[in-house]
Amino acid sequence: MASCTCGEQADQTKEAAMQKLFDQYRDYKGGLIPVLQEAQNIYGYLPKEVLQQIAKELRIPFSKVFGVCTFYAQFHLKPRGRNIIRVCLGTACHVRGGSKIFEAAKEHLGVGHGETTDDLKFTLETVACIGACGLSPCMMINDDTHGRLVPKQVGGIFDSYE
Ligand code: FES
Repeated sequence: MASCTCGEQADQTKEAAMQKLFDQYRDYKGGLIPVLQEAQNIYGYLPKEVLQQIAKELRIPFSKVFGVCTFYAQFHLKPRGRNIIRVCLGTACHVRGGSKIFEAAKEHLGVGHGETTDDLKFTLETVACIGACGLSPCMMINDDTHGRLVPKQVGGIFDSYE
């Protein structure tokens, strides 16, 4: 019986994309940030082995590559969920119970700020304002805005995401 090779093929596709990226940026000064951004697009985050490969291919010390990743909030060193939840804790949301929404989210998911559920379905984050203060308290899930929330709604909203 033939076994599934989807995982291997996916790895090869990623590896090929990385090689193309290195070919494009290997001799380009200042290529580290775009390479990190694209590598994160390819893998969904930046695994340590990928950072080591980037350091080697671009001939940059690993410590520098790692330092850049930890300096910029846009880079993620751990796997992220398929759905990114951003609970707003800005002033308008805070005064209307944003922290209770966040507590309900933490309780429902069993993770804290910046953490990802074990099934990689959700990553939970907070934001200072999502520009929808009139709908406070609110949160975003990916590009969807959910407003005028009460804590007991939160679980049902999460359950509507794949
Ligand atoms: S403070 Fe929450 S949307 Fe502005």
